[in-house]
Amino acid sequence: MMTKEFLPYSCHSVDEADIDAVTDVLKSDFLTTGPAVAAFEDSLANYVGADFAIACSSGTAALHLALLAMGVGADDTVIVPSVTFVATANAARFCGAEVLFSDVCPESGLMTADHLEETLTRATSVKPAVVIPVHLTGQTASMENIHTVAESHNIRILEDACHALGAEKPPSSGHTNSRIGDCQHSQMCVFSFNPVKSIAAGEGGALTLNDEASASRLRELRNHGLVHDPAKHVFPEMAIDDQGDPNAWYYETNTLAPNYRLNSLSCALAKSQLSKLDSRIQRRRELAELYDTLLSELSPLVKPITRTANCASAWHLYSVLIDFSAAEMSRNAFMDGLKKENIGSQVHYIPVHKQPYYVERYGEISLPGADQYYKRTLSLPLFPGMQNEGVVRVVETMRKILFGN
Ligand SMILES: Cc1ncc(COP(=O)(O)O)c(C=O)c1O
Repeated sequence: MMTKEFLPYSCHSVDEADIDAVTDVLKSDFLTTGPAVAAFEDSLANYVGADFAIACSSGTAALHLALLAMGVGADDTVIVPSVTFVATANAARFCGAEVLFSDVCPESGLMTADHLEETLTRATSVKPAVVIPVHLTGQTASMENIHTVAESHNIRILEDACHALGAEKPPSSGHTNSRIGDCQHSQMCVFSFNPVKSIAAGEGGALTLNDEASASRLRELRNHGLVHDPAKHVFPEMAIDDQGDPNAWYYETNTLAPNYRLNSLSCALAKSQLSKLDSRIQRRRELAELYDTLLSELSPLVKPITRTANCASAWHLYSVLIDFSAAEMSRNAFMDGLKKENIGSQVHYIPVHKQPYYVERYGEISLPGADQYYKRTLSLPLFPGMQNEGVVRVVETMRKILFGN
């Protein structure tokens, strides 16, 4: 019997133009911070409609850098929706801040303004400094409403858009550009470019923002906190020689900061990938629409997650909700059934408040929306290189597992 092609839940696409872009850097004088970095940053800022983009070594690094630049420290609290990758919450802990977990909509996995309000009622002894809405699966959280609540409590917003590069937000009053990352309703926005994301850089991440001073601080913070600007030096006398001329080598560090630079090879790959992002999202969208149509036959056991109105998702993931109790089948057995047919699937995510590290720190927390979403969620194969036949195969296999025919 011929083995069926493996369908992973996600997969990068690399073409000859990507390979050429990386090869050009390999033949150049700069493997790390060279012109390819600024070129990628310019393209990304331009694509999302932000004034600045700062490339860094991962999405996790970008989250950490953003909180450092916002001055988040040990006395602060950061609100994080519980349905996200652990990195969103961990970034706050890296800064020494405490995490206050928000619940999410059980049907979409997204934190809404109401959830933020509810979370704030639990913040009795602390005043949260930052909230990190997560654009789960590639569709946008309701940023305008979240912004209204956050602003009224003087809380800054950092968007985790690691799933959502290329997503378009619903139009909002007075804003023409509507791509995630334009930071119309936030201080900063974070992206990830690891290979299952919408563009691949090997590993990589970036921040986008509109504030020049913060952009300059972020560039220092990703590079050990090194300060080259003489105007900012604490010991200016060390920056000049006996004749009063600047010491060309001089730099200072006034903060403990990591090396989170992104190398030129990754930036060249990311820039080349970015130029194809829209057509790849279009392909993801076509596949998602086909899933929607075919899966309607498996309703109500299987249903799509609730979609944000007027949002064009980036379709990072095709996640569905499956009523495993009604199907009298464990999720494990269901995933195993898919695996036997060479089909990958994944769970996004175990709610972070359930992770041992956080249970030990904050005890048992009740977040029913997150629990209900987690109980039913499963991400099915979706990637730009997937054929329509792949979707048909996944849905037919699901039908056989659930109904035996
Ligand atoms: C929602 C979310 N936040 C943060 C991250 C961290 O990104 P990276 O893997 O690039 O560090 C990821 C990546 O998996 C993610 O999915």
